[in-house]
Amino acid sequence: MTPILETRGLSKSFGGFFAAADVNLAIEPGIRQALIGPNGAGKTTLVNLLTGTLPASAGTVFLHGQDITRLPPQARVRLGLSRTFQINQLFPDLTPLQAVVLAINEREGRSHRFWRAVDAGREVVHEAMNRLHEFGLDTVARERTADLPYGRQRLLELVLALAARPRVLLLDEPAAGIPSGESGEILDAIGRLPRDVTILLIEHDMDLVFRFAERITVLVNGRVLVEGAPDAIARDPEVRAVYLGEEAHV
Ligand SMILES: Nc1ncnc2c1ncn2[C@@H]1O[C@H](COP(=O)(O)OP(=O)(O)OP(=O)(O)O)[C@@H](O)[C@H]1O
Ligand SMILES: [Mg+2]
Repeated sequence: MTPILETRGLSKSFGGFFAAADVNLAIEPGIRQALIGPNGAGKTTLVNLLTGTLPASAGTVFLHGQDITRLPPQARVRLGLSRTFQINQLFPDLTPLQAVVLAINEREGRSHRFWRAVDAGREVVHEAMNRLHEFGLDTVARERTADLPYGRQRLLELVLALAARPRVLLLDEPAAGIPSGESGEILDAIGRLPRDVTILLIEHDMDLVFRFAERITVLVNGRVLVEGAPDAIARDPEVRAVYLGEEAHV
C-alpha cells in the first residue's frame, strides 16, 4: 500500500547537532500510529519538519506520494496535513464557536473575513456546532475560550485541527497538562475519529499509547530505533533497554 505520509532521509541539524537524523517513516492510510521516545529524542522536531514549521536540512517528505518538502505550512494544510492549533496563544478571547467558524472559513478560503466571523452563514455555524457537539463542547460553545478548563481547551484544539478536514492529523502530546482521568477521555475521542483520518500521535503516557496505537515508532537521539506493532515494541529488548527499561508496566 502507498504510504499516505512518508519521509526519506529526513534530517534537521541545529548548528551541527542533529535533532532528526536520516528518519525514514512510512505511514499507512487510516492507521493510528504513535511516535514515542525519551525527552529530547526529536519528536516535536520531526512534527515541525512534517508540517513545514521547520525547514529540513536534508531529506524528503511525501504526502500521498507528492513531494511537499519545500511547501509552506499552509499549503500542506490545504493538501490535508493538519496538527493541533496552539489555541491558548491564538484565540483566547474568542468563543469556541467563533474559533471553529474561523477554521472552517479558512478551509473554504474565506479567511480574509476574519472580523466578520460572527456574521458567518448558517451552514458554517451549523457545521461548527456539530463539530463541537462531537467532542462535548456544544454546551460551552459561546463561552470565552480562555475561561474554559484546560482539558476543554485541548479538546477545542482537536476540533479546530479537524475543521480543516485533514487526511493526516499530527498530535503532539494532545493530553499534556491534563489530569490523567481526563487525558484518557481525550485519547478515546481521538480513537473514535473516522478511519479516513490517519493519525500520528506523540504521547508519553505508555498506557495511553498502548491503548491507542496500532503501530509504534520509537525515536532516540533523532533516529528511528525501531518501528513495529505494539506487542513487538513492548518485547523489543533494545527498546526496553534504551527507553522503556524504567517503565515497569511495559
Ligand atoms: N530550535 C532549536 N534550536 C536548537 N536545538 C533545538 C531546537 N529545537 C529543538 N532542539 C533540540 O533538539 C532536540 C530534540 O528536541 P525535540 O523538542 O524535538 O524533542 P522531543 O522528543 O519533542 O522532546 P519532549 O519529549 O521533551 O517534547 C533537543 O535536544 C532540543 O534541545
Ligand atoms: Mg516534544
